[in-house]
Amino acid sequence: MNNDLYAVVGHPVSHSKSPRIHSLFASQTGEPVEYTAIQAPLDGFADTVRQFFERGGKGVNVTVPFKEQAWQLADRRTERAEKAGAANTLYYDSEGLLTADNTDGCGLVRDLTENHGLSLNGARILILGAGGAVRGVIGPILAQQPASLTIANRTVAKADALVDLFADEAGDTVLSACGFDQPDQPFDLIINGTSASLQGDLPPLSPNVICAESQIYDMMYSLQTTTFNQWALEQGAEKVFDGLGMLVEQAAESFRIWRDVTPETASVIEELRND
Ligand code: ATR
Repeated sequence: MNNDLYAVVGHPVSHSKSPRIHSLFASQTGEPVEYTAIQAPLDGFADTVRQFFERGGKGVNVTVPFKEQAWQLADRRTERAEKAGAANTLYYDSEGLLTADNTDGCGLVRDLTENHGLSLNGARILILGAGGAVRGVIGPILAQQPASLTIANRTVAKADALVDLFADEAGDTVLSACGFDQPDQPFDLIINGTSASLQGDLPPLSPNVICAESQIYDMMYSLQTTTFNQWALEQGAEKVFDGLGMLVEQAAESFRIWRDVTPETASVIEELRND
């Protein structure tokens, strides 16, 4: 039997762990899945995706810098993708429409709640950043009904815009925006969604936002403790997590959408950690 073809499309893409994750899912579930990485030219995302589906591709994951283009390219979007303004999962639905979904927020929430045992319900949450990565996770976080969600960003206007965009999903959650210098009280959970770590930079936060019980989550991951998590540990945080689990969980949700089979993730996270 021929395998069904899937791919992650990005630029660059050679560093992507998605082929490894999906091949682990495929062997674990016995699903006939073959998953590759495709580097699209920066001006050729749509053509690359079209050609892949024409060759019989069944589904595409999308990574930097094409998530917004994937959202635009689709004929229809799931509700969570619509609000996220970006898509990481593409497939043709039963009516032949190119459909865009975004599984990043669901992946983050699953990693926090199921893998790390955190309860977001009633929690005071601080999220750092207001770019595409943060926009993609706000809806699923609000769905957990935290007591408050504070979005802090270097450019405050972008955090303000996210508050406006998600105000209708906030329910009883106090949703607010600010700069990095404003928060001065401990939070239950602090999520770093800025790309500052890429430059080895730190958002200039007051150490007062961290107490021993604060849980810290960096959406980035790396072999070493991330710059942000290192800083948090130095301020007295005892629980810090990186984004590897989120990466595997968003992949698992894409796999479930495409195959209608839910892979087990703990062993895959463990394997990747040991790679
Ligand atoms: P992504 O898709 O990773 O979210 P993005 O949309 O470019 O990428 O957003 C990057 C985020 O990281 C933004 O919130 C950005 O802050 P600004 O909105 O003020 O640009 C934040 N960021 C990037 N570099 C940073 C740094 N050195 N310090 C603090 N925040 C930084």
